[in-house]
Amino acid sequence: MATIRLGDKAPNFTANSSFGTIDFYEYLEDGWGILFSHPADFTPVCTTELGTAAKFKTEFDKRNVKMIALSVDSAESHLEWIKDINEVQNTEVNFPIIADEDRQVSDLYDMIHPNADSTLTVRSVFIIAPDKTVKLILTYPASTGRNFYELIRVIDSLQLTAYHKVATPANWNNGEKVVVSPAIPTKEAKEIFTKGVEEIKPYLRMTPDPTV
Ligand code: BEZ
Repeated sequence: MATIRLGDKAPNFTANSSFGTIDFYEYLEDGWGILFSHPADFTPVCTTELGTAAKFKTEFDKRNVKMIALSVDSAESHLEWIKDINEVQNTEVNFPIIADEDRQVSDLYDMIHPNADSTLTVRSVFIIAPDKTVKLILTYPASTGRNFYELIRVIDSLQLTAYHKVATPANWNNGEKVVVSPAIPTKEAKEIFTKGVEEIKPYLRMTPDPTV
């Protein structure tokens, strides 16, 4: 197991899932991807997370992000659990859940943290760009469900900053002012960002979101 860091190529794998056998790269095609792990099937927090993820699928689709979850139980178990999730969360789980019974993918992505739990995965999140590089890694403990608004927010930031010479400030949300990339001198920034550049400090320049 090698540690995966930002900028690394996301390792490919073939795994069984609630949708049958999946080749990760083929599943992602040329779009973005989000891979997120769950400690186990039929657990309460995971049930709320997967129901919430299903409700957010249209938001991920709009951003060309393919969702794929993982739990270390079997595909048969996942299919039974999905019935419960759909019932109690009033939704339809409409993306695959990897059945990582042999921990192949969990080990590849370092999702088991033995000092937290020797067998179950923690709540890992990997966001992967179209060139298959890892752009974001998050790790939550089993006791804390993830915030899907935050995942969408960070995808908006990753996609904006991939194509424009900007960064996004604390608590930024889509459409709000952004920070001019520190590498760009203010004179050049004023030529690039025609909506205006506000120089608060020589190193802190704000500009309207260039995409709105
Ligand atoms: C849960 O998803 O509810 C959960 C799973 C493992 C440990 C604690 C909570």
